[in-house]
Amino acid sequence: MSKDSFTSPAAHDVFDAASTPKTASAPAPLASRPSQFVAVFDFGAQYGQLIARRVRDLHVYSEIVPCDISADALAAMKPSAIILSGGPASVYAQDAPHMDPAVFTLGIPIFGFCYGQQIMAATLGGAVGHTEKGEYGPAQLERAQNDAAVASLVFADTPQEQTVWMSHRDAVNKLPEGFSVTSSTAVCPIASMECAAKKMYATQFHPEVRHTQYGQQLLSNFLFNVCKLTPNWTMDNIIDDTCARIRATVGKSRVILALSGGVDSSVVAALMHRAIGNQLTCVFVNHGFLRKDEPELVEEVFHKQFNVPLVHVHAEERYLELLRDVTDPEEKRRRIGTEFWKVFFEEAAKLSSGKEPIRYLAQGTIYPDIIESGARKTGGKASTIKSHHNLIPFPEGVHFDLIEPLDHFFKDEVRALGCALGLPSRMVYRQPFPGPGLAIRIIGAVTAEKLEQLRAADAIVREELDAYNERLFQETGERNSQHACWQYFAVLPDIKSVGVMGDERTYQRPCIVRAVESSDAMTADWAKLPFDVLSAISSRIVSEVAGINRVVYDITPKPPATIEWE
Ligand code: XMP
Repeated sequence: MSKDSFTSPAAHDVFDAASTPKTASAPAPLASRPSQFVAVFDFGAQYGQLIARRVRDLHVYSEIVPCDISADALAAMKPSAIILSGGPASVYAQDAPHMDPAVFTLGIPIFGFCYGQQIMAATLGGAVGHTEKGEYGPAQLERAQNDAAVASLVFADTPQEQTVWMSHRDAVNKLPEGFSVTSSTAVCPIASMECAAKKMYATQFHPEVRHTQYGQQLLSNFLFNVCKLTPNWTMDNIIDDTCARIRATVGKSRVILALSGGVDSSVVAALMHRAIGNQLTCVFVNHGFLRKDEPELVEEVFHKQFNVPLVHVHAEERYLELLRDVTDPEEKRRRIGTEFWKVFFEEAAKLSSGKEPIRYLAQGTIYPDIIESGARKTGGKASTIKSHHNLIPFPEGVHFDLIEPLDHFFKDEVRALGCALGLPSRMVYRQPFPGPGLAIRIIGAVTAEKLEQLRAADAIVREELDAYNERLFQETGERNSQHACWQYFAVLPDIKSVGVMGDERTYQRPCIVRAVESSDAMTADWAKLPFDVLSAISSRIVSEVAGINRVVYDITPKPPATIEWE
């Protein structure tokens, strides 16, 4: 498994690709899409995701489709509207992403952004050329004065002048027949265009970007004024709809789920339980590398609060033995991942014996995992489908059908679902935490003594920085304000240093505090913590944790360092 796929659920949190999977199973297909849905054509990495998010923010279901999907395949999906994303290519370039021109004949309303406007123009008989100088960043947009522009449904309720976000070198320089210019900037005469009769709209700028002042308004105008959609992708509908689909897929069969204490697997558990009650059994393989109080929280929430059939497998000793003297981090990951599935399938076999066999394995795969792995369920061509990392090494003769009820949800939607289903916020807003857990925050060999020290020190770091974040929240009203810590923890290195406590010389371990500001873990900066906060952490750790006599703070950004130490 890629170290970076931190959003992954229990099962692949701890699975390491190095232990080559024997079998990959295709997930159960989605029973049906919500009746209204927007198909977002993705012409360049990441653009489509952001647009899909923005559409969902307006309570309309959206899905990303491969840009070269055939018009027939698309029509079969019955989208209510189409959005063409931006992309870095030049439309006339040899390897530029292309789309089936017949999509424009389906009679479905279309909105194109940037590359989306250019491909619309180029396909429908207009033209695109290089501008003398590109336009990057904020630009002043002026709405046109012609009849079409004045009556534009997409620009309704937006002012004559507005700030938009541009990022282009190419631009449309000849309109397709039937289209009118609806706005321009100093550099870009056709900053937007439309043909209201065919319900085709496009902008050279990016409405999906927050810096476009009225971007969300334009999108809302398109969805509700032009396409006449209803904002029905709301939490209550989502839960009802998803539970109905789970029931339709599962029927009376039994389902097993690997619960890790992580966000995704916890939300799947709560959702599946809501849908199918005691047909679900959760297996929590406790490898002993979780943080303070985490196994207890899993028990408390799923056993006591939800009353889900839960098997808590105490594998702590087994894992310690397995990691004895192992110092290489990748080897630790590999052993932990492989063992996880061994333990899990042993339990699955016990649960199945003598009873009705278990048919499904539920997984917390989420939408970004799917997008990352290609357009698996979107009707894309086989060549675009890469296997995604969520592969399970079924033992010989064992097979489960997979059910992945979160596979169309973004991470923040998963969290919102978790809250709506009644999971506690400390579980729903849990920080990213590596599947191999504390085992890779102990540099060098893992022992029970080191685990105890790290767990205690880590709890202090989290307690103090939770309080610090809360203070920032009280001051700024924002959860992720500047300088709020995004991920914070303790690391135990494999060295000792001299100290003095009372009259005695000590020779003990130091503890490293790591606290970073980030939004996605791809890049991160060390948190500029106030000295009094650092000081409180340091004095608490050395006085409360036996065996630690020194505390150091890691002041390296990512890159060049990574967030974790191993
Ligand atoms: P790095 O250390 O590469 O970490 O900057 C980026 C993010 O990924 C998390 N991480 C992991 N998550 N299994 C996981 O599920 C792992 O083996 C793993 N290693 C790192 C890390 O905590 C950070 O949020």
